[in-house]
Amino acid sequence: VKIENIRNFSIIAHIDHGKSTLSDRLIQLAEIVSDRDFKDQMLDSMDIERERGITIKSQTVTLPYTAADGETYLLNLIDTPGHVDFSYEVSRALASCEGAFLLVDASQGVEAQTLANIYLAMEHDLEIVPVINKIDLPSAEIEWAKDQIDEDLGLDGDSALQVSAKTGQGVEAVFEAAVNLMPSPEGDSNAPLQALIFDSHYDPYRGTIVHVRIFHGTIKKGDKISFLSNNSQYKVEEVGLFQIVRKPMDKLEAGQVGYIIAGIKTIRDVSCGDTVTLAENPCVQPMPGFREPNPVVFSSMYPVASDDYAELTEALEKLKLNDASLIFEKDASAALGFGYRCGFLGLLHLEVVQERLEREYDISLILTSPSVQYEITRSDGTVEIIDNPALYPDPMEIEKTREPFIKAAIIIPDRYMGAVMQVCLEHRGVSTNYQYLTSNRIEMKFDLPLAEVVYEFYDRLKSVTQGYGSFDYEIAGYQETDLVKLDFLVNGERVDALSQLVHRDKAVDRARNACKQLREEIPRQMFKIAIQGAIGGKIISRETVSAYRKDVTAKCYGGDISRKRKLLEKQKKGKKRMKMVGAVEIPQSAFLSVLKSG
Ligand code: GTP
Repeated sequence: VKIENIRNFSIIAHIDHGKSTLSDRLIQLAEIVSDRDFKDQMLDSMDIERERGITIKSQTVTLPYTAADGETYLLNLIDTPGHVDFSYEVSRALASCEGAFLLVDASQGVEAQTLANIYLAMEHDLEIVPVINKIDLPSAEIEWAKDQIDEDLGLDGDSALQVSAKTGQGVEAVFEAAVNLMPSPEGDSNAPLQALIFDSHYDPYRGTIVHVRIFHGTIKKGDKISFLSNNSQYKVEEVGLFQIVRKPMDKLEAGQVGYIIAGIKTIRDVSCGDTVTLAENPCVQPMPGFREPNPVVFSSMYPVASDDYAELTEALEKLKLNDASLIFEKDASAALGFGYRCGFLGLLHLEVVQERLEREYDISLILTSPSVQYEITRSDGTVEIIDNPALYPDPMEIEKTREPFIKAAIIIPDRYMGAVMQVCLEHRGVSTNYQYLTSNRIEMKFDLPLAEVVYEFYDRLKSVTQGYGSFDYEIAGYQETDLVKLDFLVNGERVDALSQLVHRDKAVDRARNACKQLREEIPRQMFKIAIQGAIGGKIISRETVSAYRKDVTAKCYGGDISRKRKLLEKQKKGKKRMKMVGAVEIPQSAFLSVLKSG
């Protein structure tokens, strides 16, 4: 196809406004999958995405479309996640687009993430076309939605498309709008190849599969490519388009989005934001690439079985191909051995990474309590940023400590105002402002410590607002705080991987909760086990696991030796998910329960 017949666009929306449903309809309309292979949420292909009903990964799908003008177009729909933790994924996807459809639910109107996303789209100079969705709902208020698009977004509400992604009504107009209202990409297929890597993934059979947007030039099978950042060279085995499955093509040209397979086994050669060119006729300039991700939560990861360390290393490297926002560096713990200190964009991101490592790479992990970055000024005037409790200095040497704060905007129906206020106060929040958006929807603003928000804040907010609360935040600098390091001792031995940095006011509660959790999770052993929480040398909470040893073979009386052996083996397997700390076996679940007891 000619470059004039290509469109790259994404759909942006607040969560639940129907992005996945609309994408499904567009995929069906383009007939790239048979009815038999079609399933809902076509673009959410990972198990975690389907189970949780959220989009985590951005995905591209190339949809062929013959428009009313008789021409055939290639429409690249670039799907993006909605949760704030994945906005890095969104910003990279938008860099490959010229346009965006902004979806607004006709019964909900403009919401927090609608605004956040439109700002992102504007930063990338995208042509934004508003679409009012769910017009089939009895509660749809189309005129009201138009007014909101006018007033809150500064777009022309009257020109908004009106669709029902559910029934399919008006959906074809979305394709026509892409063709007629959105610009085609610019680029020269005859110029030296300049292709931007915006994502990649590892395939056990084919090596690293690189996802690119071609800005200039042409790439085809047999070409010798080179990565600009490290000059590594490979021969292209296959290029093609993403059409749910990979569709091999003869070549990819300027303006297109697709993949390159080149037998790349060295994972480190490929990095997101790098430029691919041809070895023979290279481009001079690398593409601008992407800004660096900005992790806000840090935690260390250790394999449950210490000999899995090499596998963890490889798994993290492979996962990083598919999750450019993940950062990690080597770390070591006295209790847990070698591991990695990792940075995440939020707690949901942390959970997703942990789950993907366990599912996709079959590695059981122990995670340490997540921490934000504290700014510590020592008595001698030196200032350092610390996110790892293990590196927390002796309190005697600390002049002052500051912690990161966020500015939070919470939009709710006003009947939940009291409950939300309560939740925020419990999390050391300060209400700064509120304003009515409509006669019964209110936006409340708070200054909150980031450390409070990374725990269960979002879940608490959702539960007190019965799901009606929307929450958005930005980091807003550091404020002075009163921090202590909370240690845990199991059988008299300090377990460094359990240490946490917490606000002094929260320390006793946190210590009690964690000790209780540990008591429940640590199995009884032949001796009594004391579990203690301490600040410095001072014990502030204590629980005891009483002595007892479960003899699993006692149950099978008689001489069935094979049955006995099976049981013993089962027990041994269970032990793989245990970690010996001094004389005590601590199960993986104990570490995870403490992590969540914040
Ligand atoms: P995330 O992937 O979580 O960001 O959500 P989403 O924006 O992709 O929303 P999704 O497509 O999952 O739709 C959310 C809910 O709205 C689902 O229950 C859909 O069935 C429903 N829905 C989507 N479009 C329409 C529509 O046009 N009419 C009606 N009545 N319901 C719709």
